[in-house]
Amino acid sequence: MSDTGFEKARKLLEEIKSYVIDNEQALESFRIEFVGAKSSIKSLFGEIKNIPDDKKKEFGQFLNEIKNEAERRFEEEKSKFASSSSKSKSDEIDLSRPADKVKLGARHPISIVSNRIIEIFTKLGFAVAEDREIEDDWHNFTSMNTPEDHPARDMQDTFYLKDSVDRLLRTHTSSVQSRVMTSVKPPIRIIAPGRVYRNETISSRSHAQFHQVEGLYIDEGVSFADLKQTLLYFAQEMYGKDTKIRLRPSYFPFTEPSAEMDVYWGLKDEIDYRITKGTGWLEILGCGMVDPNVLKNCDIDPEKYSGFAFGMGIERQCMLKYRIDDIRSFFENDIRFLEQFKPVF
Ligand code: PHE
Repeated sequence: MSDTGFEKARKLLEEIKSYVIDNEQALESFRIEFVGAKSSIKSLFGEIKNIPDDKKKEFGQFLNEIKNEAERRFEEEKSKFASSSSKSKSDEIDLSRPADKVKLGARHPISIVSNRIIEIFTKLGFAVAEDREIEDDWHNFTSMNTPEDHPARDMQDTFYLKDSVDRLLRTHTSSVQSRVMTSVKPPIRIIAPGRVYRNETISSRSHAQFHQVEGLYIDEGVSFADLKQTLLYFAQEMYGKDTKIRLRPSYFPFTEPSAEMDVYWGLKDEIDYRITKGTGWLEILGCGMVDPNVLKNCDIDPEKYSGFAFGMGIERQCMLKYRIDDIRSFFENDIRFLEQFKPVF
């Protein structure tokens, strides 16, 4: 009889080791069969009374081993299912779930305004010309009728490159005028957007870097009336078809005569009073007829050709359009600031 007890126990151990557990249901059957309160091991303990006294201890230890083995295997298999079932759940595709939001970028406000300006002038047949930001003295100043010692150089505080009197960061996009005029022959009709630099104290109203758009038109018989009509068209496209403009006499070394253009902004609220200094008029750009000296400097015959030029700052127009009160916001790249800009033109 004693053999029967050991025999049964050995068989049970084999069964426990070879039991196929390939799903959670099989695991549960295994648990009921070998681990639970009514497991077959428990019933084997009842066999002890049939074991000879000298083998009782051995038999008891053997049953304990089997019990431990059953528990060990159960825990092992259980942990496998636990990790694989959570994995399979997260891998599952739930087609009813709302889609993740796609984060859309917004254009930088400077790009929006500058693209709009380009678009308007493109319709008039102007081509985009871009050039370098590190310029030489000649293209930025001398060719533009601003030789050394000319007092007008003080109008624009310049960043010179280290150890150089000739290399500088362009102070205006007017440098593109001489770049273009020395490389192509008239008729010339270009618009030149770009970044410019001036050695100015940074504050909410001025920055050491900003953007301009330059315009240049050179052909036979170009007159001041052409300039005025072109600028009126621009202002009405940009600020609305009833927009009024006015030209005030001004001075630039590279244009003669020179003017500044204002648009009528109105005096609807307190802010309008502040930004127009109570006049309702806003200064938008500088312009004029290209000085014959500039044409000569660039090997264009002033007897045959004439032209006009204008230059405007982008930040200022952007600040007006979007009511931004600190110019530094344009260069901080704060996502919360940039996200707000959807085209409004
Ligand atoms: N370059 C001038 C400025 O930066 C603007 C300008 C351009 C004026 C072309 C006249 C003609 O202030």
